[in-house]
Amino acid sequence: MTQRVALVTGAMGGLGTAICQQLAKAGHKVVAAYHPQFDNKEEWLKEMAAAGFNDFVCVGGDVSVIEDCQRMVAEAEATCGQVDILINNAGITRDRMFAKLEKDGWDAVIATNLTSLFNMTKQVSAKMAERGFGRIVNISSVNGVKGQAGQTNYSAAKAGVIGFTKALAAELANKGVTVNAIAPGYVATKMVMAIREDVLKGIVDSVPMKRLAKPEEIGFACAYLCDELSGFTTGATININGGLYYQ
Ligand code: CAA
Repeated sequence: MTQRVALVTGAMGGLGTAICQQLAKAGHKVVAAYHPQFDNKEEWLKEMAAAGFNDFVCVGGDVSVIEDCQRMVAEAEATCGQVDILINNAGITRDRMFAKLEKDGWDAVIATNLTSLFNMTKQVSAKMAERGFGRIVNISSVNGVKGQAGQTNYSAAKAGVIGFTKALAAELANKGVTVNAIAPGYVATKMVMAIREDVLKGIVDSVPMKRLAKPEEIGFACAYLCDELSGFTTGATININGGLYYQ
């Protein structure tokens, strides 16, 4: 297979790590984009090396700031060559019931989870189209599909991710560039473990499979969508939620 350069945002989180590993296993060169404010880069790289992943390249920046995205992609290109695969995975939560949600909690989630797609995709999509090959995978959420109390900001952003995916897929369909979304359910990551214990127990009870997803179960779908043979799949949203919600 052709080795592709894959840039993953939010790479050092639970889901991002699994995505990087699955893409590397599929033979791609991985560029791990991370937010410098949460700089556990050295520790993360050591953990990755211990797990057999020795050649991840790191680029630091804030996906909600377009200049950072320009710089991160330029660094990735300078080090590894053109970016053929972009995984828009970076995301945050600021869960509050809407009555208590302040504007800053709305703005932060929309900027990091949705505007970031504009900021990052803008840096690579035209070049992918010119070369006639590209894979863009956007990480949405079951809560963007079904809506979740306490997450008007997050549900809005993650639903927006699906709309963005469908629209861009239509624009790039005849250019060899596919654009798809994955809508994970509750995955065993720090983000989900931060949910209040009683609330989380209720959530797990409501999942037909009665468990959280393993991060690699999401990473695997990402690698599938980035394969050469996924070239006829575009504008799709893959729900991976243990049966919690179907469309
Ligand atoms: N549906 C409807 N109403 C609900 C509700 C629900 N699921 N959960 C709580 N409420 C109601 C409560 O009954 C309560 O009503 P009253 O005031 O009338 O009694 C009111 O909302 C306040 O509830 P809480 O006591 O829970 O309020 P809180 O301020 O202590 O906590 C919260 C609010 C932080 C949002 C908390 O409910 C919470 O953490 N909820 C979970 C939200 C969630 O699922 N987040 C997912 C994070 S992981 C993720 O996002 C990854 C992914 O993609 C899946």
